[in-house]
Amino acid sequence: AIDPQFHENRDQVDEHNGHVVWGPVDEPEELGIHGTHVAVDFDICLADGACLEDCPVDVFEWVETPGHPESEEKADPANETQCIDCMLCVDVCPVDAIDVDAG
Ligand code: SF4
Ligand code: F3S
Ligand code: ZN
Repeated sequence: AIDPQFHENRDQVDEHNGHVVWGPVDEPEELGIHGTHVAVDFDICLADGACLEDCPVDVFEWVETPGHPESEEKADPANETQCIDCMLCVDVCPVDAIDVDAG
């Protein structure tokens, strides 16, 4: 599962689609965590898609990640500022790849 303390245990190494990427990153096999308020561990996500289907405010968008061992697309929290903290995505992800900091 995603480390809920990622913001203490990892470093900001990049930005993508307006959000932070938390390392380590070593493409294409290691992609890190995307987002801060809505954080997706790209190295755990296996492209189940439930988060995209269920998010009521369409926070997530698919991004292509060719060559990653778990899946070749990931749910990117492209619109994390729209999140209403309903926690549905956290509940439905089968591999606990998502952390939402609801404060
Ligand atoms: Fe969307 Fe709710 Fe997840 Fe926020 S907590 S990203 S609103 S499903
Ligand atoms: Fe990935 Fe979990 Fe969404 S596996 S696509 S973050 S439901
Ligand atoms: Zn991203």
